[in-house]
Amino acid sequence: MEYIATTFQGLEEILAKELTALGAEVTQIYTRAVGFIADKAMLYKANLHLRTAIRILQPISRFDVNSDQQLYQAAYDINWTDYFDLSQTFAVQSAIHSPYFNHSQYVALKVKDAIVDKFRNKLGSRPNVRLDNPDVRIHIHISGTTGSLLLDSSGESLHKRGYRVATTEAPLNEVLAAGLVLISGWKGETNLIDPMCGSGTIAIEAAMVAANIAPNINRQSFGFQRWKDYDAELWEQTKQAAIAQQRDMEHWIYAHDVLPSAIEATKQNIEKAGVDEFVKLGVKDFEHTPAPAGAGLVIVNPPYDLRLPIDDANAFYRMIGDTLKKNYNGYKAWILSGNKDAIKNVGLKAARRHTLYNGPVDCKFYQYELYSGKKKVEEEVPAIEK
Ligand SMILES: C[S@@+](CC[C@H](N)C(=O)[O-])C[C@H]1O[C@@H](n2cnc3c(N)ncnc32)[C@H](O)[C@@H]1O
Repeated sequence: MEYIATTFQGLEEILAKELTALGAEVTQIYTRAVGFIADKAMLYKANLHLRTAIRILQPISRFDVNSDQQLYQAAYDINWTDYFDLSQTFAVQSAIHSPYFNHSQYVALKVKDAIVDKFRNKLGSRPNVRLDNPDVRIHIHISGTTGSLLLDSSGESLHKRGYRVATTEAPLNEVLAAGLVLISGWKGETNLIDPMCGSGTIAIEAAMVAANIAPNINRQSFGFQRWKDYDAELWEQTKQAAIAQQRDMEHWIYAHDVLPSAIEATKQNIEKAGVDEFVKLGVKDFEHTPAPAGAGLVIVNPPYDLRLPIDDANAFYRMIGDTLKKNYNGYKAWILSGNKDAIKNVGLKAARRHTLYNGPVDCKFYQYELYSGKKKVEEEVPAIEK
């Protein structure tokens, strides 16, 4: 069976690598999505393990669509009772890019009408629509003159891992934070520091990578659990196998922020995620804090001066560059920023560059290698005892 895993623009290659590492056969890389072949066991694994997937969709029909009538008929032709019962609620979501349709809401309504009519004509009654937390989610995608109907095996977006109990301003999406860690290639072989951690998303996703914790192991519900072919025993085995693969970390993750409220939020989130034993927290101002001892990796998502205002963005990014040069000799550093002008003030040559999207914001994710300069280090912190 072919499935589609969706993601953010810029993370498609990383998602394809994750799928291959999981043992799935990647068929095609699209914009914001990757196609792959999987059986039911792989579908469950994909929902549990993929760090950079937003949803995993099962295509159920593909058709030409040039008119309302064609859309309605294509949706009506599906044997919906194979997929869900009268007693289950459903919702239709749409994404369109079409010369014939302008309103995605209208397209969703047309598909909803066809589903309701099909049930009524077959069973004399209809299932209810529920927009918030429906049992079954159906997606209609129209691209040009091609329509696709898909079932959502994930339910709520997979970025909802279940660990975010506290938040701060401008938190990163969990899928994007995981993507940053995977792009960096870091797997726990050195210390990692996020010196502007906000609610701790990068630190948590990094800890889960290093400790080989499946990102959605704490999540309570998935769409496929409401499907007619749900195999509860297989799902339990999939989760147990994931838990058996977890490992200890040998290095520390440091999560610092200048705001005590951010560190309090991070504390709550790392506890909920079950990674608090791997993360050292500190209320610290980046500029005036020496680097943790030993070389390692910095991943930082500073304010962009968009949602989080800063007095002088150019001076702030100059400070980041100067501090990295002064204090982080021997480290590698990655900066994610949506402020393309300000990031130029870092004053270091980027060794690697990626373009990613934080919601609608076009962001740069740049890597810098820090060779020169005088290094200031904190007192040595002993490695985690096993
Ligand atoms: C864009 S937010 C980080 C969001 C975070 N990645 C998350 O997922 O929640 C930037 C953070 O930088 C912190 N910050 C700003 N200036 C700082 C400084 N000089 N030193 C340390 N942290 C700072 C802010 O308090 C804020 O929490």
